[in-house]
Parts: sequence; C-alpha cells; structure tokens
Amino acid sequence: MSESFITSRDQAAIWRNEMDAAGKRVVFTNGCFDLLHAGHVRYLKEARALGDALVVAINSDESVRELKGEGRPVHNAEDRAEILCALEAVDKVVVYGEKRATASIESVRPHIYTKGGDYTADNLIDEEKALLDRLGIDIRILSLVPGRSTRSTLEKMAGDSSRDEKPKIAILGSGTGSNAQSIIDAVKTGDLDADIAVIMSDVAGAGILGIAEREGIPSLDIDPGTTKGGHLTDAALKEIADRLKSYRVDLVVLAGFMRILREPLLSRFENRILNIHPSLLPKYPGLNTFQRAIDAEESETGTTIHVVDSGLDTGEIVAQGKVSIDAGDNAASLQEKVKSVEHKLYPQVIGEYLQKC
Ligand code: GRF
Repeated sequence: MSESFITSRDQAAIWRNEMDAAGKRVVFTNGCFDLLHAGHVRYLKEARALGDALVVAINSDESVRELKGEGRPVHNAEDRAEILCALEAVDKVVVYGEKRATASIESVRPHIYTKGGDYTADNLIDEEKALLDRLGIDIRILSLVPGRSTRSTLEKMAGDSSRDEKPKIAILGSGTGSNAQSIIDAVKTGDLDADIAVIMSDVAGAGILGIAEREGIPSLDIDPGTTKGGHLTDAALKEIADRLKSYRVDLVVLAGFMRILREPLLSRFENRILNIHPSLLPKYPGLNTFQRAIDAEESETGTTIHVVDSGLDTGEIVAQGKVSIDAGDNAASLQEKVKSVEHKLYPQVIGEYLQKC
C-alpha cells in the first residue's frame, strides 16, 4: 500500500501538523469513492486546487453498506484507498468507520473542508457544521459533474435486469413499529410483493429500529437536528432524501413517523409517500385522535391511509378502516382496536398501491 495511505488518526494529526508548520493549507473531503468515475476525478482535482494538499477520508466497507445498502461497496476499502492514492490530486487517504466523518475531521483539522454540490453550507449535518465552525475550518461547496455518478454507472451496468426487481419500500417511523412489523410479516409470507430496502427513524433507540435489526433490514437513525417546532432540519431532510435515493426506493411508507415531510422531498416522491393516521380523516388530524373522538361522543373511529402532501394529514385518502367506539372504551383500548385494523389494512393497501404507481 502506498505511503499516502494513513491508517491511524494519530498519523493523520502528525501529518497535518507538519503541513501546518510548513505553512501549507490542507484540504479535506470525504465520501465512499466506490466506483471511481470522471466526476470524482474532476471534483478531487478542484478540491486539491483550493490548498496545498488534499486528504480524502473514505467510509469503511461497513459504513458504505449502511449508507448505500447491501451489495455495496463494490470495491473494498483497501482497493478504494489504493486507487485514490494513485491520483495526482490526492495526497493522503484515511478510512473511517463511523457513518459521519466528524472524528476524522477533528484529527486532521484541515484548513479547508469541501463537499459536493448537492450540499449547501446550510444543509450540512448539524454535528459536522458545529465542528467545522468550532475549529474555524473554511467550508467550500464544489459543483458536481452532471451525468457522472456511481449510481448512474451501476444502473448502466445493471441494464434491463434492474426491471425484474421487486418494488422497494422504505419505512419511516418514530415509535414502536407495530405497523412496520406487519408490513415485514406480509413481505415474508409473500402477501406483499415488495422488498423493504431500509427502515429509518428520527428517534434513536426507537422500537422500529430494534425491529429492523432483528429482521436484518438496513436501518438508519436520522438526527432530526433542532429547530423551532420540532421540524426536520434541512440536513435531516437531505439525509432522508439521499438515503431514499441510494436505496432506490419506489415507495415511502410512514408508520407512526412524527415529523412533517416537506420540499424538496415531496416533489421527488410525488404520490409515492403514504401515511397511516389513526382517525377517519378528515376528522381529527394531528394528535390525541382517540380521546378527541371519545370526547366528541363519536360512535366510531378508525384509521386512514393517505398520500402525503405538505399539510398535516391532508393528502388524498387511499383507504379507511373503521372500528366502533363502545361503552367503556378509552384511548388505550381504542388504540389497540385501531392498530389491529391497521396491521391488516396497511400491508394490503401498500400492495394495491404499488400496482398502480
Ligand atoms: C399508528 O397507530 C398510526 O396510525 C399512527 O402511529 C401509530 C404507529 O404505531 N400514525 P406503530 O409504531 O406502528 O406501532
């Protein structure tokens, strides 16, 4: 392996200090760099030109798999590092195991940090942005080369065979994940003809992530960031959109996801995001639906599956299931009744919806 390959963070720190002492500016970038293409090469050249040396931090094989899904990376980390080290623009390569490059940035402490053009200084992950600001690192966004991407290379290579694949679903949830489990079960029995590509949650440690782990489904906990009103930050929204893209998701299924999705995600998945809401919409959008139905002395309530738009539980209704509200019912008993309807209805409606979209 070339001497450009740095194996430890300490080595990276020593190298950086030598560069700094010599008055040289270090540029840092990171990514998977799995199937190198001209877009990468031009991007790295441009990054290198911003300073005197370029260090590229690459994701370990495990973290590429987590980010891009099964079957990736195509090339293992050693090979990817070797190829990158051979480029004129690249001075050092480090491999990092975490999903994010923060620890590597901290040890390299570059003068300049670069990202590809689908990012802006505002939609960098909060944790990364905070670190860059704290260390006084210059952030530069470089434009990506249109039409050149690992994804498009893989698609070209897959040719027609990709058409034989089952539709891919992503499930997003914040809670226990009983609906997710019913969808998984339907896939396992063959009642739902689809693949569950990824499960995401905005709540670290949520039950739904435990289900993903037990079922061997790739999962991702999204850092929702902190904004007024608990809205997803631009960075969180971008992370969701990026993962949906890398997993080539056809349909997004919200199952107890307690955040509102917004543009640009909605347009990218127009009519391809479903939600399940525990009331007979348009009645009782929002929270506490069971208690509100009881307080209003309704004789029935239920669940609604609808297409997601920018409103709160407002999109076009696809299906509903009803339950009666009987004497002695309370919010908890109603929730139980409604969930048992949901567990049958949601997988079935997803299957029918996939045939149409
Ligand atoms: C469901 O009742 C659904 O209607 C609502 O959130 C609940 C999610 O439950 N949107 P679970 O996490 O699937 O058990």
